[in-house]
Amino acid sequence: MQLLDGKATAQDIREELRVAVEQRKSNGQKVPHLAAVLVGNDGGSLTYVNAKVKACEQIGFDSSLIRYEDSVTEDELLAKVHELNNDDEIDGFIVQLPLPEHIDELKVTQAIDPLKDVDGFHPENLGKMVLNLPCFLPATPAGILELLKRNNIETEGKDCVVIGRSNIVGTPLSIMLGRSSNPGNCTVTLTHSRTKNLKEKVSQADIIIAAIGKPGFVTADMVKEGAVVVDVGTTRVPDSTKKSGWALKGDVKFDEVAEKCSFITPVPGGVGPMTIASLMINTLRSMDLRGK
Ligand code: GUN
Repeated sequence: MQLLDGKATAQDIREELRVAVEQRKSNGQKVPHLAAVLVGNDGGSLTYVNAKVKACEQIGFDSSLIRYEDSVTEDELLAKVHELNNDDEIDGFIVQLPLPEHIDELKVTQAIDPLKDVDGFHPENLGKMVLNLPCFLPATPAGILELLKRNNIETEGKDCVVIGRSNIVGTPLSIMLGRSSNPGNCTVTLTHSRTKNLKEKVSQADIIIAAIGKPGFVTADMVKEGAVVVDVGTTRVPDSTKKSGWALKGDVKFDEVAEKCSFITPVPGGVGPMTIASLMINTLRSMDLRGK
């Protein structure tokens, strides 16, 4: 088994981006500015957003963090989205999900200017992704493809089973892996809570993408010898041995699955850092798209 080390791969990308920012500076071009909007105090979301801001600092991007209480109204949030759309200093921005129940996530993501939608969640970007047109690709699926590519994982003609059909991971990733591209050209099965014989389907896969948010869901008996396993799960579970009182757990029982597969992503240090790296790639690209 070999580790698909997202942390190391993301570090390589960050270094490339840092050099690109230096280059822009020496050409007298604008430094990319990413803004992140965070609503509430969810520990997981706060950790991710802080990691995004830290990545900006490392690369040399400007960044802004805009925080609201859980009680923020949909109108207030939409007003901020419009303000960021019209602020020429801001090159790309994200609204961290999930949002509180009283706010319509779709309404908020649809309000973002597609040319600043560095998360790639706007229907225009998702539609362009389906058609293989230039666009912002959603960060987690794009990060997974980049991880496979940079680690020379062959995808062409492979049978891939994606577990979980979320709008931000499973559904777009199933399309991206099936497209005529590299990585891509997989035969993809998108599985979910209503899938029959899930275990049997997963156990036939050359590539398994686990993205359902159920810690330890994928066990060794579900994995074919030599499969490639990508774990998107990041659930916080109580852990008294940690200072924080919790540990991040993936959707895969790492120890037993690692013995059977050819490649596997760890949690943490696998997909998470790659999501952030993709967001940074998208932020740099936003400069080209907007002619900056
Ligand atoms: N929540 C979980 N993943 C993501 C992500 O990639 N972007 C945003 N905005 N929210 C998320």
